[in-house]
Formats: sequence, structure tokens, C-alpha cells
Amino acid sequence: MRLQLSIVVSALSAVTVAAPVTEDVKRGSPPLPSTDSFYSVPDNIDSYALGAIIDHRSPPSAIAAFGLDPLNLEASYQISYRTSDNFGNATSTVLTVLVPNNADTSKVLSYQVAEDAADPNCAPSYAMQFLANSGGLLGTAVTQAEILLIEAALYQGWVVIMPDHEGPLGAFLANRMSGHATLDGIRAALASTSITGIQSSARVGMWGYSGGSMASNWAAVLQPEYAPELTDSLIGAAIGGTVPNIPNVIDTVNETPFAGLIASGVLGLANVYPLVATVVNTEILDQYKAKFDEVAQQCFVPDILDFLLADVKSMVSNQSVWTRPDIVEVLQYNSLEYAQAPPSSIPFYVYKSVLDEVSPVADTDSLVSAYCSAGVSVEYTRDIASEHGSLAAIGAPKALMWLKDRFDGKSAASSCSTNTVVSSLLDIATIEVLPSFLVDALSALLGGEIGPTFIG
Ligand SMILES: *[C@@H]1O[C@H](CO)[C@@H](O)[C@H](O)[C@H]1NC(C)=O
Ligand SMILES: *[C@@H]1O[C@H](CO)[C@@H](O)[C@H](O)[C@H]1NC(C)=O
Repeated sequence: MRLQLSIVVSALSAVTVAAPVTEDVKRGSPPLPSTDSFYSVPDNIDSYALGAIIDHRSPPSAIAAFGLDPLNLEASYQISYRTSDNFGNATSTVLTVLVPNNADTSKVLSYQVAEDAADPNCAPSYAMQFLANSGGLLGTAVTQAEILLIEAALYQGWVVIMPDHEGPLGAFLANRMSGHATLDGIRAALASTSITGIQSSARVGMWGYSGGSMASNWAAVLQPEYAPELTDSLIGAAIGGTVPNIPNVIDTVNETPFAGLIASGVLGLANVYPLVATVVNTEILDQYKAKFDEVAQQCFVPDILDFLLADVKSMVSNQSVWTRPDIVEVLQYNSLEYAQAPPSSIPFYVYKSVLDEVSPVADTDSLVSAYCSAGVSVEYTRDIASEHGSLAAIGAPKALMWLKDRFDGKSAASSCSTNTVVSSLLDIATIEVLPSFLVDALSALLGGEIGPTFIG
């Protein structure tokens, strides 16, 4: 394993760590999701069809152009919609819709954010609003690279939608919920013409990195059964920093800079699995209980800082809990490696650092190979000169170009291909899909001027 502590530390110092959210409230920011009735699941949620719009509004606080340059949004919306939790029970969540100026309302990108937190107040619909006034909470929920990616997509004229795919309980790693919420968010977007102008016949691409790749990939896997009518709408999925096997991630990140992912993942699952909640309550050693309690009330960056290099697997009274069959079953139920392949109607672009220090590249190699055997068209880029955090930015231009080709109606390759490249970024200067200010921002991000990115 390559442990790049200096990079991570500089990345962390580059990210704006949020003030406690209570201070944001004191400053007059919009109410937290946990106290905002717009986020409440209606009592009669069962009476809504999947993806049905429950309510909509303008974001309480305006969403700006991400503090960068001049990409003015024409409009933004929040839509509350019916979806299903990890077990298929009715629930609701919130979609953010970003409409750029001169939007092509026939092209919709569903961007799944790597929220990676167990606190519902880290939901992207909420965090995005702080772009307008403070940037505070942003650093905890959406990393610098992801903002650039979303902005790059808006620059194409695509309408960008972002589901709060962890649902109303902050169910990080309850990945079937994330898949449901992504698919129902697309349904809600396609049904929102009178609100957003999105055409009901719009073509939809999906994109996500790391935690967001799981949501996007699960949406594709679950689509044939859960949302069969979307077959003709979905043009492809670009997924990077892929995470096919959760038990392997736990072993890989323990005692590394990413160790906090174990804590946020366990607490995310505890939010929806009584079994996991019981294990947390009974197994976490007393001296670590307060640390874990904090994770339930904070977002990704502080979670990572709290557990930097920690041996999280040893923070329990009986370490065999990690291999207990009932716990392993939960982890596998939410791991792509143990699920069916997506339908061949959804082509995939997969990008992964060969040195990825969160999820070993071998797991993605075998996932891609299984998908290819099942008839899915997968264009797979294995990138050598990167690691998990930096590939989010380095790999983005190619992913964006791949999505653009799909939106432009070019067919994906009929067969699978794998390319191991020194760097996906070598040709960035010639990549015409990106406006120059974004190329500059991306280069600065990677060149250390701002600091490399850090996405979990
Ligand atoms: C959700 O679904 C599970 C499994 O189908 C069921 O046992 C449980 O009672 C349901 N919970 C609620 C709150 O409906
Ligand atoms: C630890 O847990 C395992 C599996 O649940 C159990 O078999 C074992 O007896 C436990 N060890 C202790 C010391 O409690």
C-alpha cells in the first residue's frame, strides 16, 4: 500500500473544514435538513408512486457558480420525491436540479456526490447552498474536485441533478437505497417539466466517483427490475474510484488516512440496520464511544480527521465482529461484487487508479470482467500516476468526454476494452470539452497550488 500522508494532509488543509453546523444556523443560514419540514417523509408516503414529486421549491439559499468563474445558473430547484429505502420500503428524499444558462433540457446528468457521511445534515441538497454565501459546510460534503466536475457538466449545457442518495437517515453504505434514490430522482426529474423545463424524453447519463460511483453503479444494476421504463432514457454510466467490495475496503483502509471511512460506514449502516446499531452500542470500546458518537453528527472531512491512521478495527471489544456471518452478510448485500451485473443497455466508463488505496484495483478488475461477461460494454481506464483522491480530478476530463459522446448520440463500443495508462491527464491541454478556466482550476488543484483533491 502506498501511504501518501503528506499529500493527504495538504489536501485536508486545503479543504475548508466546516464550522459546526449549529453556527451556520446562528448565522441565519437555512434550517438543517433534520429540522426542515421540506425533508420530512410524508405520513402517506405509501400512496405516492415511485419517483412521484411530493413538493418543490427554490433552494432556501441561492446556489452560486461554485465560487469559480462565470457560470451563471439560470435556475435551481429542490424537489422532494418518493423513493424506497434499502429494504424496499417507501421513503422520500430530495433532489437538487441545476439548470445552466442556455440549457439543453434534453440532456440530464445525474451526478451522485460522494457524501460518505452518516449525518443526514451532510446531504448535498443542503451543502450546495452554502456555495452562495460561505462555503462552510461545502468542504465537508462536496470536495473541490466534485464542484469542478459539476461545473464542467453545466458548462456543456446539461441539466445536472443531484439526489440526496443516502436518504433521510444518512444511510451511507446502504447502497441499494442510493441506487433507488438515483433512479427515482431521474424519474422525478423527467416528470418535472412544468417546474424545471426538463423534457420528459430527455436522455440521462449518470456519473459518480467513489461513494458516488456506488450510487451510480447500483442504480444501473437495479434499473431493469426497479425502473424498467427508464431503459430508453439511460445513455450510460461513468464511474470512477470504484468500490466493489466493502469488506475488502475495511481491511484496506484500516490504519491509513482513510480509516475514518470505516466509522462513517458502520454508522451509516447502523442508521438503517438495527443489527449494526446493536453491534455499535455493545461492541465499541468505552474509550472510543465519544469519537463514534461524533461521526453521527458530522460530515466526511471531520470523520477522516478524527480517525486519521487509526486502527478502527481494534476499537471493538471482540474483533471477530468484523467476520461475524450476520455482519458480513450486511456488508456483502451492499457490495456490487455480490450483486447481478447491470443491463447491457447501459454502457459503462470505469476509471480507477492502479494504486487506489481505498479499494484495491483487483476488485474493480474482476467486477469489470464480470460485467463484460454479462454483455455490458465497459471502457475501462486503469491509471498509474494517481491515487484514490487525485484520480477524481485527473480522470474527470476523459469521463466527461465519454459522457459527451453518449449525449451526442455516438454509440459506445460494442465490446469491452481495458487501457492501462500512465496518466489520463497527459492530454488535458487538448481536451476541448473543458473551458479554459476549468482547465486552469483543475491544474491548480493537481499542481499543489490549491492542493490535491481528497474524495472518499
Ligand atoms: C421494511 O421492510 C422490512 C423487510 O421487508 C420489514 O421487515 C419492515 O417491517 C419494514 N419496515 C417498515 C418501517 O415498514
Ligand atoms: C467473539 O465473538 C465470536 C463470534 O461471535 C465468539 O465466538 C467468541 O466467543 C467471542 N469472544 C469473546 C472473547 O467473547
